[in-house]
Amino acid sequence: MEKSDIEKIEIDLLLEAIHKRHGYDFRHYSKTSIKRRLTQRLRLSKFKTFSDMLPGILYDDDFINVLLKDLSITVTEMFRDPPFFETFRKHIVPIIKENSFTKIWHAGCATGEEVYSTAIILEEENLLDQVRLYATDFNNNSLKIAREGIYSPDKIKKYSQNYHASGGENSLSDFYHAIYSSVKINEDLKRNITFANHNLVTDKSFGEMNVILCRNVLIYFDTILQDKIFSLFRDSLCDNGILCLGNSETLEFSDCYKHFSVISKFNKMYIKGPHIRDSKIPALKRYNSVTI
Ligand SMILES: C[S@@+](CC[C@H](N)C(=O)[O-])C[C@H]1O[C@@H](n2cnc3c(N)ncnc32)[C@H](O)[C@@H]1O
Repeated sequence: MEKSDIEKIEIDLLLEAIHKRHGYDFRHYSKTSIKRRLTQRLRLSKFKTFSDMLPGILYDDDFINVLLKDLSITVTEMFRDPPFFETFRKHIVPIIKENSFTKIWHAGCATGEEVYSTAIILEEENLLDQVRLYATDFNNNSLKIAREGIYSPDKIKKYSQNYHASGGENSLSDFYHAIYSSVKINEDLKRNITFANHNLVTDKSFGEMNVILCRNVLIYFDTILQDKIFSLFRDSLCDNGILCLGNSETLEFSDCYKHFSVISKFNKMYIKGPHIRDSKIPALKRYNSVTI
């Protein structure tokens, strides 16, 4: 047997142990990404083989937190992929305006930059008070940072560039203030955001939503798990509810695709229900998905 085949067995055993012992289910995450992350942990520690991590997983309660950090990729930024937020402002905001109340779920919110970006757009469009934003992640360390909304000033230049590239016409500094050597999102912007722990793989629906953003999360899952999560999203969305994915993600190959229409192929935005030309939503009738 090749060494790589043995390592595959070891990794499967570790994932099984993490699931059985701690309830976190990584068994259907992309194997390449999991192996890369575990190899990194191997290099940083005294372990010689993947199986050397097994006792830590079973008997050391702190080790699972180390592994959770390793296995959840938390890279994010404000107004990440500016064309996405530009399209959100131009084409999704008019739909939200037609609702008297809108529930938006940011699934896999990481350290909060994405949900604050949406909140800024909604505040600028005078919509924040008719919206409730739910921002969830399974990583409590990330959620703590998200709730605090405290970020390194080094990142702000890029965030500000993204904000303007996405069509923002004010100054990003309207929404944060300096605190010691960091910047902190203004409390007022958080007024309608609820942060909560939710595991997409093991937890049930988070309630009925009008909009779900789950961007750059499913890319780490295999197609079996992606399908399961797409069903969760389909069942969590009301009729005409909108699903937004990341740039490298698509609904197209899933069984759930037939329940959705494409709003923007480029920006991975989908609506649950009939083709947008047939939609009862006036804001949507004006558009042709091919052009967005
Ligand atoms: C790369 S970040 C994406 C953050 C943000 N959505 C963005 O696009 O910038 C992926 C996030 O998904 C979260 N995640 C991974 N598996 C998850 C799961 N099973 N349930 C909930 N969140 C998960 C990770 O903790 C991480 O915060």
